[in-house]
This record gives sequence, structure tokens and C-alpha cells, in this order.
Amino acid sequence: MSSYDVIVIGSGPGGYVAAIRSAQLGMKTAIIEKYPNLGGTCLNVGCIPSKALLDSSEHYYNALNHFKTHGIETGNLKVNLSQMMSRKDEVVKQNVDGVRYLMKKNKVDIFTGVGSFKQPGVVILTKETGEKEELQSRNIIIATGSKPSLLPGITPDKKRIITSTEALQLREIPDHLLVIGGGVIGLELGSVYARMGSRVSVVEFLPSIIATMDPALGKELQKILQKTGFEFYLGHKVTDAEVKGKSVILKAEGPGGKPLELSGDYCLACVGRKPYTENLGLENVGIIPEKRGTIPVDDTLQTTVKGIYAIGDVIRGAMLAHKAEEEGVFVAETIAGQKPHINYRLIPGVVYTWPEVAGTGYTEPELKDLKRDYKAGSFPFKASGRARASMDTDGFVKVYADKITDEILGVHMIGPRAADMIAEAVVALEFRASAEDIARMSHAHPTYTEAFREACLAATDNRAIHM
Ligand code: FAD
Ligand code: NAI
Repeated sequence: MSSYDVIVIGSGPGGYVAAIRSAQLGMKTAIIEKYPNLGGTCLNVGCIPSKALLDSSEHYYNALNHFKTHGIETGNLKVNLSQMMSRKDEVVKQNVDGVRYLMKKNKVDIFTGVGSFKQPGVVILTKETGEKEELQSRNIIIATGSKPSLLPGITPDKKRIITSTEALQLREIPDHLLVIGGGVIGLELGSVYARMGSRVSVVEFLPSIIATMDPALGKELQKILQKTGFEFYLGHKVTDAEVKGKSVILKAEGPGGKPLELSGDYCLACVGRKPYTENLGLENVGIIPEKRGTIPVDDTLQTTVKGIYAIGDVIRGAMLAHKAEEEGVFVAETIAGQKPHINYRLIPGVVYTWPEVAGTGYTEPELKDLKRDYKAGSFPFKASGRARASMDTDGFVKVYADKITDEILGVHMIGPRAADMIAEAVVALEFRASAEDIARMSHAHPTYTEAFREACLAATDNRAIHM
């Protein structure tokens, strides 16, 4: 039986990062992945392919709608969807190959097959051929991720009623894409097809889209997306979706039980994801998943069994690649005897629509719940010289700061490159900066980041300069 200091089950951003950090710390490490491709959901059917398609579709949308204003005349513009998909596949391949290279560089042994617990300290690897092998370690990290949640009675046939995985590889641009769920996946993948001409109807149960983010963001994003071919049915609970020939008929209940029926050629079901623990043999080690399917862990991310840890989508908290990565590093360092720390409150949330949406720290409803005395400052991109130059004037940056100490408590933005800009806010909150600290730091002109500084000025006695 091969023996390791650390065995990681699952090679997504949680698992592969945990493996690299374990190896960096001098531990003999193995990673088990059931698919031949490393990288998990994120690299294969999540973050990376979705961003590749978002970038391609955005180029097309800009060429069609904005180039003329910039003084660039195009000829007959058309989408070559199969080329767009091939480029996306190539981007995925480069990233997946990159992870394999990193495993080799860090001397992490890769095992392809399903990993399942035989007993604490022993994992059985079942290869595609059915062949079995046992591996042994005092430290095992579960990083098996998640899969799409399904609504009762709605089973994706994966041709017309699809999940995000199929939406990343459609062979035609839908005429009318129905989207169940106004969360991150629905708005990102809905954007991909709306930009290429699809009518996109989002049916969302709650009264707002991206409901977990600061409410100001969802409101603004909804207004902007409506201009690009989106229509929204908020406060509607989807109850049924049925394939009829080349159509999907979707039924929902609106406010007061009012029925809604929509017909489209594709229906993307994206109502969240659930932890994935099938075939992991948790019962053989006595780990009992929580109500929502998550694996229970303590503050050190150790499960109820000594020496078995769990990270990423399979445990509580945000289902985000960078959260999984943080936890991968955290567990490796804990096993090595260090005392790492994760500030969960500051893990940024980002939606890669255009404009992008990003937030970190407390939202306004959270501050109200905490009865925290706060002040707010905001700055619109239409007042930013950089945004005017690039024709990206939609959106704003909003800052909440403590009314007495001026400490920044939350930053929420919708605008150009918000996904990158939020990093400055994370640093500010991590170092407990005041709004005035940021307001007194030089920000290059002209940049989008000036909007964050101006929002901090606005929060500091309403001192914004350009508004
Ligand atoms: P995963 O990435 O799910 O990896 C788990 C791995 O474990 C898989 O490869 C699986 O095959 C393997 N596995 C499972 N069971 C076993 C077993 N028994 N034996 C061996 N291997 C096993 N997050 C972001 O932060 N930013 C984004 O832009 C973003 N975009 C997304 C877009 C889409 C369409 C989707 C679906 C998700 C997106 N996410 C994004 C979420 C992100 O993909 C996940 O949060 C992240 O992948 C979780 O990482 P993980 O390591 O926990 O699990
Ligand atoms: P989500 O949780 O973001 O959104 C699901 C939405 O579906 C919710 O707003 C919910 O109210 C709604 N819903 C639930 N039942 C419904 C019903 N019966 N009828 C109508 N609406 C209903 O989940 P989503 O979009 O599936 O994404 C899953 C996860 O993947 C995200 O939570 C996120 O963690 C991750 N992800 C992250 C991305 C990023 O960081 N940019 C991109 C894509 C996914």
C-alpha cells in the first residue's frame, strides 16, 4: 500500500491548491481525481469556460453596438459559434494542462479514479478499468466540490432543459433562452447569449436578482441588463418545465399565485449547487453530512474524524473558487503545524456580467441587522473621466463606513472592471482602513479606481471632488 503524508480527494481549486501547498511544506502528497482532466468544476465547466465565453460574446456585442461610435466601421459582422467554443475549449485545456504541470513541478503524485474511504487513514482508488488500489495517509483532505441542485419535478434532459455545463457548449444561439434563477450563473450565461441576440427571460423566486449581494447592485444590474435583451419575472416561483418538440414550456407562480407560462427553445436551470459526496464512502468513516449535504467541519476545517479535513464547495460557506483555494492553503498549513487564518467576511463576491458587479464586507441589510451606526458614500461612473473615455458609464461604487470611527465596513460596486477593482477594497478592509485613509491615497488618473477614492471622499463629510 502506497503511503503519503497528505492525500487530497478532488482536484478543483480547493484540492489542487491544497496539494501544492502541502508539497511546498515538505509533505509527500497525492491527489486523486476521478476525471482525466485536473482542475474540477472551476477549470472544466465553471469559472474558466464561462469567462472565456463572456469575453468572446462581449467583443461581439461591442463590435456590433459600440465600435461605430468609436469610429470603427465593420463589415458584415457575424458570430462563428463553433470557433468561439473551440477557443473556449483551448483556454480550458491550457489551464488544465497548467495544473498538471504544477503537480509535476511540486512532485505531487496524481491518481486517476474515484477515491472512497475504506476506514480512517485508508482510501480505495477505483480506476476506470475497475482495478482497485489502496492508499494510506494520516491526513486526508476531502475536496470533492459540488454539482447543480435540481428543482423537484424538473429534470434536465441536457438537450433543451440544460444546466450550466450544457450551456457552456451549445451548438446554436437560442432564439429564446428561459433561465430559472436570477443568480450568478443565470446572469453570466444569460449575458453570453443575450449579447449574441437571444431573448433571455429570467424567472426568479425572490423579489430581486443576485439577492445575496448589496441590494443596490441587483437593482442597477437589472436596469442595465434589460437594455441588452433580458426580461425579468421577479417574485415568480418556477413549478414546472416540460420539453415539447423543440420548445420548453415553463410554468411559474407569480405574486398572489398568478400563473405565468413561457415558451422558449432552451431552458437553463440554475437554482444553486449542492455538495458532492457520492461514492466517497463517508459512511465507512462515520462522517454524517449536514442537512444541506455539506460535510461538517470545525474551525480548523477538520471533520468529525481526526485527520480527515474538508474544504471548498463540499463544506459550508460561499461556493467560490477563491474561497476553496484559501481553505486549501489553510488546511495544508494546519496539518504542517502552522496557525493560518481566513477572514471569511472579506471573501469578495463577483458577477462577471458587463458591467461587472463586486462586493466585500458588510452589505447594508447586514449593517442594519447589526444595528451598526454607519454612513454611506457613493460615486457614479458617469462622473469618471476614464469611464467616459471607454464608454462604460453605467454603475457606481458604494462605500459604507462606521459613523464614528470612519472604518470602512463594506464596499459594493457595479461598473467597468469591478472584478479587479474590488481587490483594493479587500486590502482596505483587511487593514481596517478608514474612508479618509483611502481618500488621501493617490489613485492614478484617469483610472476606474478613482471612483473608489471618490466614494470614500463622499463617505467622508460628502467631500467627493468630481460630483
Ligand atoms: P470542484 O471544483 O467542484 O472540484 C471537485 C473535484 O473533485 C472534481 O474534479 C470532481 O470530479 C472531483 N471528485 C468528486 N468526487 C470525487 C471522488 N470520490 N474521487 C475523486 N475525485 C472526485 N467561482 C468563482 O469563484 N468565480 C467564478 O467565476 C465562478 N464561475 C463559475 C461558473 C460556473 C458555470 C459554475 C458552475 C461555477 C462557477 N464558480 C465560480 C464556482 C466554482 O467553480 C466552485 O466554487 C469551485 O470549483 C469549487 O472548488 P472545489 O475545489 O471545492 O470543487
Ligand atoms: P445562485 O444561488 O447564485 O442563484 C440561484 C437563484 O435561483 C436564487 O436567486 C434563487 O432564489 C433562485 N431560485 C431557487 N428556486 C427557484 C424557483 N423555484 N423558481 C425561481 N427561482 C428560484 O445559484 P447559481 O446561479 O445556480 O450558481 C451556483 C453557485 O455557483 C453560485 O452560488 C456561486 O457560488 C457559484 N458561481 C459563482 C460565479 C462567480 O463567482 N462569478 C459564477 C457562477 C457560479
